[in-house]
Amino acid sequence: MSQPSIGVAVIGAGMAGRAHASGYRSAPAVFATELPEVRLVAIADAHEPFAVDTARRYGYQRAETSWQAIAEAADIDAVSVVVANDLHREIVEALLDAGKHVLCEKPLRSVSRSAGRLPSTRSASRSPGASSGRSRTSTGTTGATTASALMPR
Ligand SMILES: NC(=O)c1ccc[n+]([C@@H]2O[C@H](COP(=O)([O-])OP(=O)(O)OC[C@H]3O[C@@H](n4cnc5c(N)ncnc54)[C@H](O)[C@@H]3O)[C@@H](O)[C@H]2O)c1
Repeated sequence: MSQPSIGVAVIGAGMAGRAHASGYRSAPAVFATELPEVRLVAIADAHEPFAVDTARRYGYQRAETSWQAIAEAADIDAVSVVVANDLHREIVEALLDAGKHVLCEKPLRSVSRSAGRLPSTRSASRSPGASSGRSRTSTGTTGATTASALMPR
């Protein structure tokens, strides 16, 4: 049986989006080689030169100018959302509805009540990442988890 693979995309090719693009590229080297293959599929940015240049620099297969193209792409499994904060909610909801795994830059939403509603979208219950995020948000353990992971034993 062939090894599973994960197709990744980044929406937003500004300062932080390029860091995500680089992160996916180096993940197999930084973490374990037994991880599934990471396919660098697409970079999307409304400003086409940013999308094209970032895709070329970091070795992604294609550039897109709309985030909708990422949501609709069958070869993409996981998506980083790295655009301005006010765009996060609309894009994340559409990606979750399309069955993607989503990593959204902070803040998830500028109004915490709206952020709380996000993970309850239809397909979020099928996403382990969204379920975990919802649980950590509602219990307030996100910060505690991070702190305990960093504390020396
Ligand atoms: N975790 C961190 O340390 C950290 C650091 C910086 C920024 N951020 C977060 O990252 C996000 C992006 O910040 P940035 O500094 O990279 O911003 P930026 O302005 O440099 O980049 C945003 C990019 O999004 C593109 N864009 C705008 N509308 C779009 C659309 N509808 N579809 C596709 N692309 C679109 C813009 O053309 C631009 O290239 C913000 O949420 C910010 O809070 C996090």
